[in-house]
Amino acid sequence: MIIPPLPPTDDPDEIERRLEAMSLRYAIDTQRSIRRVTSAPVSDYLITRLIELSLQAPTGSFGQNWQFVVVRDQKSKQALGDQYKRAWKLYGSIGHKLADRSPDPAQMNKILKSVEWQIDNFASIPALIVACLEGGHGRVPFVPSPPIANSGHYGSIYPSVQNLLLGARAVGLGASLITLPLWSQMYARRLLGLPITVEPCAIVAVGWPIGHYGNKPRKPVQDVVHFERFRGAN
Ligand SMILES: Cc1cc2nc3c(=O)[nH]c(=O)nc-3n(C[C@H](O)[C@H](O)[C@H](O)COP(=O)(O)O)c2cc1C
Repeated sequence: MIIPPLPPTDDPDEIERRLEAMSLRYAIDTQRSIRRVTSAPVSDYLITRLIELSLQAPTGSFGQNWQFVVVRDQKSKQALGDQYKRAWKLYGSIGHKLADRSPDPAQMNKILKSVEWQIDNFASIPALIVACLEGGHGRVPFVPSPPIANSGHYGSIYPSVQNLLLGARAVGLGASLITLPLWSQMYARRLLGLPITVEPCAIVAVGWPIGHYGNKPRKPVQDVVHFERFRGAN
C-alpha cells in the first residue's frame, strides 16, 4: 500500500479539514516513522495545533507535567544531530549486527538506512519537538524508584507523543519519534536551557515527507494477547 503525500500547508482551515477528514483507524493503520523529510517550513501555527492535540492525552495523577520545546535553530539542531551521531556509533553497530540475524534482514536494513539518512540530514529537519516532563510526580530525582513509579513517570509523556504522531499523520506531515539524540540529558538540558526539574524525554522530528505513508510490519495480535492469565503459566 503506497499513499501519495499531501501537499504542505499552513492554512488553519485546511489543517482542520485534514484533521477531521481522516478516520482514527486509518491514521493508526498508516502512521509510521517518516525520517526522510524536506526542508520546507512547518509553521508555528501547525506545530502548536498538534501540541494542543497532544495535551488531550492522559497523565499520571493528572499532573499535566509536560513541556514541549520546539527547536528550529540550525546550530541547536546540528548539536543534537552530533549527539545522535555519537550514540549511533554504538547503537548502529549493534543494530547492523542484529539486522543480519533478524527474521527480515531486508526490512531491518531499510530502517537502518532511513535512520542514517536522518542522522546525516538532522540540521535540515524543519522542527524538532522535544517532549519533556516537569517534576518527579512520586519519583525523587536521582534516587532509584520502584518500577511502577518509573512507569507512571515516563508513561505520562508517551500518550501525548502518540497523539502528536497521529495528528502529524492526519495533516500529512512526516514525523518520527526518536530518543538517541538525548542520550546525554545533561548536554540537552544545557543546550535547551532546561532547568534541572525539566527532563527531556523524546523528540518528535517533523517535516513534509519525501517518502510516503504505508503499511508496516507488525506481529499478529494472537501472538501478544492473553486473556485472564499469561499463556504458558499454570
Ligand atoms: C521509546 C522509543 C524510542 C525510539 N527511539 C528512536 C531513535 O532514537 N531513533 C529512531 O530512528 N527511531 C526511534 N524509535 C522508533 C522506532 O525505531 C520505530 O518505531 C520502529 O522502528 C518501528 O517503525 P515504525 O514507527 O515505522 O512503525 C523509537 C521508538 C520508541 C517507542
